[in-house]
Amino acid sequence: MDHEPERIALVEAYRALLAEGLIVGSAGNVSLRIASGLLITPSAVPAARMGPQDIATVPFDGAADGKPSSEWRFHRDLLVARPDLTAVVHTHSPNATAIAMLRRPIPAAHYMVAIAGGKEIPLAPYATFGTAELSAAICATMARLDACLLANHGVVAAGATLAKAMDLAREVELLAKVYRMALAAGEPVVLPDDEMDRVLEQFRGYGR
Ligand code: 13P
Repeated sequence: MDHEPERIALVEAYRALLAEGLIVGSAGNVSLRIASGLLITPSAVPAARMGPQDIATVPFDGAADGKPSSEWRFHRDLLVARPDLTAVVHTHSPNATAIAMLRRPIPAAHYMVAIAGGKEIPLAPYATFGTAELSAAICATMARLDACLLANHGVVAAGATLAKAMDLAREVELLAKVYRMALAAGEPVVLPDDEMDRVLEQFRGYGR
C-alpha cells in the first residue's frame, strides 16, 4: 500500500475527532497533501470501520482513486490555493456548529481567535455540501486565514501539519464553546481592532 504512514495518520486523526466529540458517525473528513494531490478519508465510513486501505487518493487534476469524502472538492481546492497548507480538517463540532447555525462568526471576544491568523473566526456563506459553490466560499473565506465556520454546517481548520490542523479544529470548538457560554450569560465584550493588531503581532513571534 502506498503512503501507508500517512494513511494510518489520517485514520488515527479521524478516530481522535470521534473520541473527542468533534464528530459523530461519518460526519467530518480529514485530508493530507502528497506530491501529486491529497489523501482523504472515505465517504460515509464511520471511524470504527475505517482502515488505512479505505483512505482515498484525489489527484490535483484527474479522477479520484477510491471513494473520497463527499467534501473532497474543498479539501483539494484549498490545498491548491494555499501551498503553505498540508492538512485540512472538517468537523461538525457542536459548539462551533451552533454558532454557524446562527450565521455568526466567532468575534474577538477572546484574543485566541488570532490563532487562525485574523481578528475573528469568520463565517463562510451557506452552500450545499460537496458543491463547487461551497468550495469557492471556503477558499475565499480562508484566503488568508487557517479556519472558518460554515453557515448551517460546521467548521474547516487547516495547517502546515496534520497536528496543527487538528489542534486548530479543537481550538475553534473551545472558542465557540466559551463564546456560547458568554452569550448565554450576557453580552460578550469584543476586543477593539488596535488590540487585535497587537495580539496578531505577538502571535507572529509566538512558538516559532
Ligand atoms: P463524508 O462522509 O462524505 O466525508 O461527508 C460527511 C460530511 O461532513 C459532509 O459535510
